[in-house]
Amino acid sequence: MTVPNTHARCVILGTGSALPERRVSNEELSQTVDTSDSWITERTGIKFRHIASPDETTSSLAIASARNALDAAGLQGSDIDLIVLATATPDHTFPATATKVQAALGMTRGAAFDVAAVCSGFLYALSVADSMMRTGMASKALVIGAETFSRILDWEDRGTCVLFGDGAGAVVLGLETPAADDPSPRGILATQLHSDGRHHDLLYVDGGPSTTGTVGKVRMKGREVFRHAVVNLAEVLDQTLALQGLTSADIDWLVPHQANARILDATARKLGLSRSKVVVTVDTHANTSAASVPLALDTAVRDGRIQRGQLLVLEAMGGGLTWGAAIVRY
Ligand code: ACO
Repeated sequence: MTVPNTHARCVILGTGSALPERRVSNEELSQTVDTSDSWITERTGIKFRHIASPDETTSSLAIASARNALDAAGLQGSDIDLIVLATATPDHTFPATATKVQAALGMTRGAAFDVAAVCSGFLYALSVADSMMRTGMASKALVIGAETFSRILDWEDRGTCVLFGDGAGAVVLGLETPAADDPSPRGILATQLHSDGRHHDLLYVDGGPSTTGTVGKVRMKGREVFRHAVVNLAEVLDQTLALQGLTSADIDWLVPHQANARILDATARKLGLSRSKVVVTVDTHANTSAASVPLALDTAVRDGRIQRGQLLVLEAMGGGLTWGAAIVRY
C-alpha cells in the first residue's frame, strides 16, 4: 500500500506482446471454411491471424507478453503489486487467469484479477489500474489483454470465424510525479468508459456456467455492430480529447482496437485524422479482442513508430456493448 499522491500520473514503463506460433492465411482458411481471400480482404482488411495450439492458452500467452513487457521496463515480477488482466476467454471459469500469471511471474504480494469487457477489456483494465494506482492501492502494475478467441468460434459460421485471432499484449505501469515546470508530462491523461447492455444480443456468446453450463460460441449481428462501432468510437474520442482541451490535431498516434480496417478508416475520417497516424495490425493479427490494443501498441513501440513524449489515443468497442478511450503521453 502506498500513500495516495494526487499529483502522480501512471506512466507506461514498458510494453510486450505474444502470439501463437501458428499463422493462418485467408487462403488456408478457405480450404476448410466457405470463404475467400478476396471476400475477407475487401470486407475486413484481414490477411492473417494467429491460432493457438492446444498447449497455448490464454495464461501462457499472457505470461509471455508480461515477461516481454517487464524486460522492456527493466523490472521483475516481484516488483509488481497489481495485475489486471482483460479476457473473455479465461483458462478456467475460476480462479482468475491473472492469478496464474501472478504465480508464474513470482509475484507474491498485491492483487491480481480479471476484467471482462470483451474487445474493450484492455481499456477497462487500464482505467481500473490507473484509478487504483493514483489512489495509492498499488505502485507498479501489469495490465494485460489476452485471448484465445479461436476456442469460442463457431468454425461453421463464416460470418464470424474469419474475423478473429489469438494473442496477448501487456503494459507495465509505474507512478511518476511530474516536475511543476514540465509543460507536457508523460502518463495516462484521461480515460473514458461506457457500456449499454441493451445491445447484448448484437454480440455475445451463447453459453456460460450459469445458463447452459457450456462454454458456448460467438454470435454476432455484424452490420449492426459496425454501425454502433463507428458512432460510439467517434463520440468517445471527441469526449475524451475535449476533457483534456485537446483536438485530433494534437494526436501523434491513434492506437485503435483492430476489428476491421473499414471501422478504422471510418473512425479516422470522422476524427479528421490522416490514416498515416493510425496503427494498423488487423491485417496480420485479425481481431484479438482484449489483446488487440496492447498488441498494436507494442508493435508500433518496437518498430520505432511510437516515440517517448508522443500523444497516443487508444480506443476500443466490443460486446456488451462496451466502449472506451484513453489518452496517454508515452
Ligand atoms: N466469406 C464469404 N462470404 C461471406 C462471409 C465469408 N467469410 N461471411 C459472410 N458472407 C456472405 C454472407 O453470407 C452474405 O451473403 P448473401 O448476400 O448471399 O446473404 C454476404 O457475405 C454479406 O454478408 P453481411 O454479413 O451482410 O456482410 P457485411 O458487408 O456486413 O460484412 C462483416 C460482414 C465483415 C462482419 C461486417 O459486418 C463487419 O465488419 N462488422 C463489424 C463486426 C466486427 O468487427 N465485429 C468484431 C467484434 S466487435 C468489435 O470488435 C468492434
